[in-house]
Amino acid sequence: MTFFIACHPSISKEKFTPGTPEFKGQKLFKDMACDACHSIDGTLNRGPTFKNHYGKEILHTDGSVVIIDEKYIRESIIFPRKFIAEGFPPIMPSYKPVLSDEDIANLIIYIKTLK
Ligand code: HEC
Repeated sequence: MTFFIACHPSISKEKFTPGTPEFKGQKLFKDMACDACHSIDGTLNRGPTFKNHYGKEILHTDGSVVIIDEKYIRESIIFPRKFIAEGFPPIMPSYKPVLSDEDIANLIIYIKTLK
């Protein structure tokens, strides 16, 4: 049996299987330019890095602390101004108009894989 693997230069170093939620989430992460502000390797950028991000506690400018879970990531993408992570400027745009529920679910699955 032969598999045709679509090879995109910017994602070729990752090992997700095309068509899986992880693969779609990774593609969205690049296509939506999340990677312009969020690194996946721990590098400090304009936004928090997503390396080991899932499950971590995050302090907000209002003093509240939340655990990063699916609900929190979803809200951060739809209403980025609701909570602002301490130490970061409130510059993230809302992706409500451009991302479907499924897109966001795929992004969350991808973010969970970043260790
Ligand atoms: C213009 C820069 C920028 C872009 C583009 C951007 N973000 Fe952000 N994002 C930020 C900044 C800065 C913060 C931290 C401040 C805040 O909480 O809003 C943040 C916070 C977040 C958080 C909450 C993280 C935490 O630790 O509290 C999530 C989740 C997130 N972004 C996901 C995304 C996703 C997914 C995309 C692409 C669809 C994206 N961001 C695109 C700048 C950006």
